[in-house]
Amino acid sequence: MIFYKSDDEIQMMRKSGRIVADVLSHIKKHIKAGMSTLEVENIALDRLKTIAPDAIPSFKGYMGYPASICISINSEVVHGIPSKNKIILDGDIVSIDFGVISNGYHGDSAFSILVGKGSEDTRRLLRVAEESLYEGIKYAKVGGRLHDISYAIQDHAESHGYSVVRDFVGHGIGKNMHESPQVPNFGDKGTGPKILSGMTIAIEPMVNVGGPDVFVLNDGWTAVTSDGSLSAHFEHTIAITDKGTYILTEL
Ligand code: MF3
Ligand code: CO
Repeated sequence: MIFYKSDDEIQMMRKSGRIVADVLSHIKKHIKAGMSTLEVENIALDRLKTIAPDAIPSFKGYMGYPASICISINSEVVHGIPSKNKIILDGDIVSIDFGVISNGYHGDSAFSILVGKGSEDTRRLLRVAEESLYEGIKYAKVGGRLHDISYAIQDHAESHGYSVVRDFVGHGIGKNMHESPQVPNFGDKGTGPKILSGMTIAIEPMVNVGGPDVFVLNDGWTAVTSDGSLSAHFEHTIAITDKGTYILTEL
């Protein structure tokens, strides 16, 4: 069942979204080559304590996930677990995903960044993956169909020679981190549920340089590309209403 949110609920979700956005932008400012991925986790937790001590990181404990952020490097697609032994190197693509629950509502967002100097190819992947998210958001409007979003994402990524991951999808979000409907990053225009006012969803394309296949490492979480190619991930929580579509995880 899809839960449609009232304006008041969306207002609450905006607050949660802004907290997530602040923490992610703080990480973006402070992340550097030489840091361990656990240090990035701690930057997130410190910042959260400073700006929103009552907000709870939503990933920790979710299906047994052991940390508050997911941090995935290069061919890791999503759900990388912070570790003191994993050091970020110059030229790495680092994807960071973070979510909170605050006043009963979730926010969820992710970005990928090139740490230090990287190749033109790497920068192109990041640009196209982020553009894919915004192409999807363009079609997130009342009157459309959910897979219009999916199609736009897939079309943008594939027309640049990349592939989209199938095994993980975006999702409805609200009082729960994951609600109906699923929001795939591939699909056919004009299909899927009707987009109605009050829908709140997290759109999160995962874009690979090589093929779309992924597998999960022995840690039970880290998803990597099967062919070892680079991957990027961008996510926003948005609200779609009669009055317009709003990105909630933005400052
Ligand atoms: N943002 C991700 C999602 O939307 C991460 C959650 S997985 C978790 O599904 F286990 F780390 F919580
Ligand atoms: Co998500």
